[in-house]
Amino acid sequence: MAKKLRVGIIGAGRWSKRAHIPGWVRSDLCDLVVVCDQDEELAREAAEIFGVAEISADAEATIRRDDLDVIDVCTRDEHGESHEPLTALAIEYGKHVLVEKPVAADFHRVKELSEIAKSKGLKTKVGLTFRYAPAIQYMFDLVRAGKIGTPWLYNGYEQNSQWLNPWYPQDKRLFKEYPAELPWVGTDPDPKAIEVASLEGYGAPTIDIGLELIGIGGDDIEKLVCQMANLLHERRRYNVDDHLSTINWDDADMWIARTRKGNLFSMQSSFVTVGNYPGITAWIYGDRGALKATLITDPETGAIQKLEYADGWITEDADAAAVKYRELEIPDRYWNPGHQPDDEWDTAFYGCLIQNFLEEIASGGEKNEGNFEQSARVQELINAAELSHREERWVYLPLKG
Ligand SMILES: NC(=O)c1ccc[n+]([C@@H]2O[C@H](COP(=O)([O-])OP(=O)(O)OC[C@H]3O[C@@H](n4cnc5c(N)ncnc54)[C@H](O)[C@@H]3O)[C@@H](O)[C@H]2O)c1
Repeated sequence: MAKKLRVGIIGAGRWSKRAHIPGWVRSDLCDLVVVCDQDEELAREAAEIFGVAEISADAEATIRRDDLDVIDVCTRDEHGESHEPLTALAIEYGKHVLVEKPVAADFHRVKELSEIAKSKGLKTKVGLTFRYAPAIQYMFDLVRAGKIGTPWLYNGYEQNSQWLNPWYPQDKRLFKEYPAELPWVGTDPDPKAIEVASLEGYGAPTIDIGLELIGIGGDDIEKLVCQMANLLHERRRYNVDDHLSTINWDDADMWIARTRKGNLFSMQSSFVTVGNYPGITAWIYGDRGALKATLITDPETGAIQKLEYADGWITEDADAAAVKYRELEIPDRYWNPGHQPDDEWDTAFYGCLIQNFLEEIASGGEKNEGNFEQSARVQELINAAELSHREERWVYLPLKG
């Protein structure tokens, strides 16, 4: 067996423990060597839960170690303070990198980091979790195999109730004292000053899935028009607040696009729309059928994914009942070996992402899906959608500059 890859993770918070660390420790392809968090207590606690030998409170020193192959950046990045600098350092020190989105708020910088990594033979991966869900990977394969003919219309929805309650803090970090020094955004009530939130944080994975699907048909986005909205005007900022504050961020947005081949693409993302986690519906129509993937936890059955297919080719004598969406069985081969049947969506889908990344690195081949380049394309669309909203016009791709 090939030598195991040695991994260090930066960030031992909620998402690290729910999604990242279980993925690393359950794979035979790697050893998770060190858990690093600036809050050493959190690093220690995570290392104990998952049986990791080493801890650190110093991210830069961890990244500089010469006995690690892979760095996983799973910190929060409210104001661009951690993902981009830690990622750039990891690439500088010759590490393959997995980082949570956004890599950087400006897609030009993401492209630049992608180029540097490629020039050093390093693989990159962004936490575009949902493209690794077995339902989505199977959907990609079916579209590649021609199951729906030519893909020509995509509808992507990301909607869940996470911030519907105004007392749910805008900043998810758990503060012990009031963080008075933090820069704050989203306080200017002028509709023009709306801060990007759902579009980037929630829209990205579903945009990613849509781009992959239309890309299989050799298509791409040509122009888009977007509207962001602030539906809830008051909310608690931090867990330590005892009152609501004025807030102006995009908690819902919609955009439509035309593709280079004249096809259609639409997106809606919101975290104040009633719905269960993770909240994704990806629907692709072609000239021979359609596929609909739903990643929404069913509270009754616990099912976390569903893939449906409808054959659209109606013969003259067929009746209306011939057009019916039928659930497809998703083959087991789409799961990672460490998957456990009762895993919830976060542990389950992230396990697939991590196994996919490790296999890409271990194989040494060219394959590297969901990498920085793909993330830069997603980010470019997010930047274009924001521009469209602010300037109230269609925006053409690629963006200039
Ligand atoms: N891909 C997805 O579907 C998905 C889902 C949820 C969260 N996320 C992302 O995962 C990331 C982490 O989220 P979370 O909920 O775990 O946040 P969190 O605040 O619970 O944890 C982040 C941890 O990083 C540590 N940290 C921050 N900067 C550091 C530094 N410079 N050096 C060392 N440690 C540092 C903090 O102390 C904290 O413990 C965020 O970017 C979030 O947006 C992605």
